[in-house]
Amino acid sequence: MCGIVAYIGKKDAFPIIIKGLKRLEYRGYDSAGVALIDNGQLNIYKCAGKVANLEAFISEKNAEGTIGIGHTRWATHGPPTDVNAHPHVSMDGSLALIHNGIIENYDSLKQELIKQGYVFKSETDTEVLVHLVDNISKKEKVWFGEALRMALSHVVGAYAIVAISKDFPNQMVAARKSSPLVVGIGEDGDFYLASDATPIVEYTKQVVYLEDEEIAVIKFGEELKLFSINDEEKRPYIQQLEMELEALEKGGYEHFMLKEIHEQPRSIQDCLRGRLNAQEGRVTLGGIKDYEQKMIQANRLILVACGTSWHAALVGEYLIEDLARINVEVEYASEFRYRNPILSENDVVIAISQSGETADTMAALELAKSKGATILGICNVVGSSISRITDAGSYTHAGPEIGVASTKAFTAQVTLLTLVALSLAHKKGSISETDFRILLTELEAIPEKVKKVLETNAKIEQIALEYKDATNALYLGRGSSFPVALEGALKLKEISYIHAEGYPAAEMKHGPIALIDENMPVFVIATKGNSYEKVVSNIQEVKARKGKIIAIVTEGDTQVREMADHVIEIPETNEILVPLLATIPFQLLSYHIAVMRNCNVDQPRNLAKSVTVE
Ligand code: M6R
Repeated sequence: MCGIVAYIGKKDAFPIIIKGLKRLEYRGYDSAGVALIDNGQLNIYKCAGKVANLEAFISEKNAEGTIGIGHTRWATHGPPTDVNAHPHVSMDGSLALIHNGIIENYDSLKQELIKQGYVFKSETDTEVLVHLVDNISKKEKVWFGEALRMALSHVVGAYAIVAISKDFPNQMVAARKSSPLVVGIGEDGDFYLASDATPIVEYTKQVVYLEDEEIAVIKFGEELKLFSINDEEKRPYIQQLEMELEALEKGGYEHFMLKEIHEQPRSIQDCLRGRLNAQEGRVTLGGIKDYEQKMIQANRLILVACGTSWHAALVGEYLIEDLARINVEVEYASEFRYRNPILSENDVVIAISQSGETADTMAALELAKSKGATILGICNVVGSSISRITDAGSYTHAGPEIGVASTKAFTAQVTLLTLVALSLAHKKGSISETDFRILLTELEAIPEKVKKVLETNAKIEQIALEYKDATNALYLGRGSSFPVALEGALKLKEISYIHAEGYPAAEMKHGPIALIDENMPVFVIATKGNSYEKVVSNIQEVKARKGKIIAIVTEGDTQVREMADHVIEIPETNEILVPLLATIPFQLLSYHIAVMRNCNVDQPRNLAKSVTVE
């Protein structure tokens, strides 16, 4: 986690860095800091709290300079204090460095440096880096860029680093391993660096994504130089950004989360565009088409993911097994990577990730690759690490998701997994042509139906008012609505801090039913389909114990309406597409409850959007 931004050029660096840090605040917001070189002086400004705190702190100072680095922190080593904030500075005050990642062997390096007389001010692992670079630079009599390169061979862990030195006021050095870093190439010989492209896009669309163990030496007015950690020069691969600046703004909404919830008719449509042709009865997934036969013949498809993406994977499991009759397993990436899984070249491992940077998901893929499995990716962020290490993959095209709570990325992942299931089923012949075409037509209609679900917003706001003070909540669903229940509970937990659990509805009687009393809201997906009658029975079990039922039902339903305290209607659709509609009322409900409880919706406590540490 943590966000890093840097600038070198002719412009004032500070406004560019602060604006960039605000865009990256979703990556962590425990503290923020900036280092600028001005007239041969290295000035550091840093404090605990959000970027706005830093801005207020600096407002009375003269933050000048045309070269600078900035950091917004998600604390790992050491609490969120002023002194633990980045940048960290060498003891002689000449060198400053920002870092995203974790230095795993920091303690042994630190003890060695202490023996050599280095004094540590912070509790961070990062401060080790700055003293190590300083130490090597002095001992080996090399400039700080070379010292950084040499230092990295002593470092175990993950890093994206940018360093500047007042002795070299015209250049900066950056390096990455397992944490992302993008270099934007400006038109006037200036350069922009950041953890992702969002702080860069308004200045340039020409970018270079650093690869693992690459070092960038950046000098104003000169060409970008790339080296491997072994000092071999490499040719930068310049890419064109497709992102638009408007996608990064709130566009009149009070919060990014609300904007992103309302964007779903469009984001689902964007995910389908060019891939689904209901009239001609075709699904085309360009990114993975060369791997579809491999998937059909695979021993197993193993979907690895974390958090919300793991919930999307669970929906995918139902869809692919049901339609394509291929064995699917869903794994938490963090568990999979450490339990010596049995894998062979007949397995296909598919990572699902919004950011494409989640450390556990990356590591799961690396493990699968080392064991000979084919690795594929379903990512949202174009050019992300996962999309680059996989053999092939498809983008979800949901557009930038800034709110920490994932919404439109989830529905885009489910949409893409639905297309994958349909495409595999069609190629394998496990679905009849008639059923295939019916489903394509239904899927094509989903964006319009999502619009209708969004019209229930006012009603959901009223329901939120009634349950905003609950301390616990249960979410129930069956079949592919079970992952929707899990996702509903996660949304409520992460942004409103109400304890919530998602369960398969039938599991309730094996334990959770003991929790039910007149204070317990139970959110149930009770749409028409195979398990409808079973869910109705589960609702009755809750009512018999005086629990409150808030049910998501199919338009026109009368049976559940009679039993439930509240119903939210969604348009009728094929049962396997229900997750795409049923998840939306839960997103809105969590949003309104969080707002009513004065919680920070877009940046919930203790969280970060991109979890690049284990
Ligand atoms: O970027 P990823 O999809 O790999 O992220 C996985 C999780 O960290 C993420 O879904 C997280 O659970 C969200 N906060 C959920 O809203």
